[in-house]
Amino acid sequence: MFAPDQTPLTALPQWQALAAHAGHTARLPLRERLAEHDRFARLSRRLGDMLIDFSRQRMGEDTLALLLDLARARGLADAIAAMARGEAINTTEQRAALHIALRAAADDDYQVGGRKVMPGVQATRERVAAFARALADGQIRGATGEPIRRVVNLGIGGSDLGPRMAVKALAEEGAPQVAVSFVSSPDPLDLAIALEGATAADTLFIVSSKSFSTAETLANARAAREWLTARLPAGSSWQNHFAAITNQLDAAGQFGIRAERCFPIPEWVGGRYSLWSAIGLPLVAAYGPERFEALLSGAREMDQHFLTAPFDQNLPVLMALIGLWNVDFLNIGTLGVLPYRHALRHLPAYLQQLEMESNGKQVTHGGAPVGAATAPVLWGCAGPLGQHAFHQLFFQGTQTVALDFVLPVDGSDPAHELLVTQALAQGASLARGKTIAEAHAELQAKGMRPAEAARLAPHVACVGNIPSTTLMLPGLSPRTLGQLLALYEHKVFVQGVLWGINSFDQFGVEYGKLMAREIAGGEASDSSTAGLWQHAQSLMERP
Ligand code: F6P
Repeated sequence: MFAPDQTPLTALPQWQALAAHAGHTARLPLRERLAEHDRFARLSRRLGDMLIDFSRQRMGEDTLALLLDLARARGLADAIAAMARGEAINTTEQRAALHIALRAAADDDYQVGGRKVMPGVQATRERVAAFARALADGQIRGATGEPIRRVVNLGIGGSDLGPRMAVKALAEEGAPQVAVSFVSSPDPLDLAIALEGATAADTLFIVSSKSFSTAETLANARAAREWLTARLPAGSSWQNHFAAITNQLDAAGQFGIRAERCFPIPEWVGGRYSLWSAIGLPLVAAYGPERFEALLSGAREMDQHFLTAPFDQNLPVLMALIGLWNVDFLNIGTLGVLPYRHALRHLPAYLQQLEMESNGKQVTHGGAPVGAATAPVLWGCAGPLGQHAFHQLFFQGTQTVALDFVLPVDGSDPAHELLVTQALAQGASLARGKTIAEAHAELQAKGMRPAEAARLAPHVACVGNIPSTTLMLPGLSPRTLGQLLALYEHKVFVQGVLWGINSFDQFGVEYGKLMAREIAGGEASDSSTAGLWQHAQSLMERP
C-alpha cells in the first residue's frame, strides 16, 4: 500500500543539513568551481550515448551526497516501486499513474488493482497502428469515397501538447504520411487557420479528450462538425470524418462518433503523461507505427534505467535533486528550457504542462503545507531565438534563472554545428561571467584609451553564476525523443515524492473552469469581475 512519508520535509535532519550546506557553498561562484580539476568528469553522467552535464550547476559532489541522503530519507525507492506496482499514488483521486505501462513490452506484467493492463494496452496499440496504416494507404475514406489526406487533432493540454510537440520534433524524419494539424484554442481563428485550403471530403477530425467534457475541445468539435455538414453533399455522413480518443466512450458515442472510430485511454494515465497512449494517434498517422514503436522503446530504456540504476547514477533522480537544490536552497524559482534544434521548439510548452500542472502544488498528500518552494516557473523557446530576445537579462539583469540546454548532436547536417557551439558558448559565458577588470582589460586590448575603457567596463561586465544543465542527445530520433521525455517525466515524479505532493491531480485548473461557467451564468464572484464582465458584454454587442 502506498503510504507517503508525512514527516514535514523541513524538519528532516537531511533537509537541515542541506540548508546549512547552502549557507556556505552558495557563496562559491561558478567560475571558481569550473576551475576545479576534473569537474566535468565528476559531475557528468551518461546513459549510452546520452550525456548529461551537471558540472555547471552551483554545487559540488558534497552537495550531491547530501541531496542523495534526502532522497533516501524521503523513501524514494519505495515510492518508485509503488508507482511501478500500479498503486494509487494519485491519492486524492485514488488512481494509479502507470504511464510506464503504455510503453512497456507486450509481455511485461503491469497491473492496476490486481488486473493486468498490458493486454488492453497492446490491443489499443494495434488498433491505432492499423488505423494509421490504413490512413497512409488511402483506405480510410470520407463520405464521398475520397481517401482522407488531412488529419486535424482537436484537443487541449495533455490531449494536444504531446502529439503536437512530437510531430514537430520528428520533422527531420521527412514529410509526414498525411498532413496533421492541431487545434486547441476555442478562438475560431485556430480552427480556421488549420482548415485553410482544406476540403471537407478528405479531412478527418480527431477529438482528443480524456474526459470528453473539456469546453474548448467540445466547442471545436461542434465547429468542425458544422464545417463538415456545410460542405459535404447533402445527406452524407459527417461521422466518416470523425474519430475520438477518450476514456469516456459513451460521451463520444453520444456526440455521434462511431464506436469503431473511438480509441480508449485508460483511467490510470494522466493527460500530461498520455502521449504514449492512443493520444499519440496523430503522431502515428504522421510518421507511422514503426517510429512510434521506436519512441516507446526509447522511453522504455529510460524507464528501465530509472527503475534500476543506483541513485547516484540515475539521470532522472539526479536532475530532480539538482532542480530541488536550485529551487529550495538557492531560491531560483524559474527554469528555462532551451532546445538547440528547431524541431524541438515545442518542447518547452510540453514541459510547462508536465512540470507546472504536476508539481504546482503547496500541500502534501496529507493536506499539510509543504513548507518549501515547489515547482519552478518553466518557460523557454528554441535556443538561438532566445539568445536574441531574453538572454541579455541573464547576462546582465538582476534575476537569477536556472537553465536546461537540450542539445541533440549528430552529423546529419553540418549546419547544426553552429547550434552546438552556440549552446556551449551560452552555458559557458553565463556560468563564468565577466568581471569589470576583465572587461576593462579587454577594452584596452582593443585599443581603447584607459579612461574610456574604465567608463565602459561596468556596462560590458556580465554577472555570471547562472547555473545550467546540458542534456546532450546522440541526435534527434524517435528513440532519443522517447528517452528525453521519459527522463523529464521521471524527474517530475521524483520531485513530487521529495516534496511529498501528489503530482497527478490538478484541482486548481478545475477552479478556473468553474469560475468561467459562473461568469457565463451571470454569477460574477466580486465587483471587479462583475464590472469587467459588464464592460465586455457591452463591447460584445458591437459588431
Ligand atoms: O487543463 C486541465 C486538463 O484537465 C489537463 O490536465 C488535461 O490534459 C486537459 O485539461 C485536457 O483534458 P481532456 O483530455 O480531458 O480534454
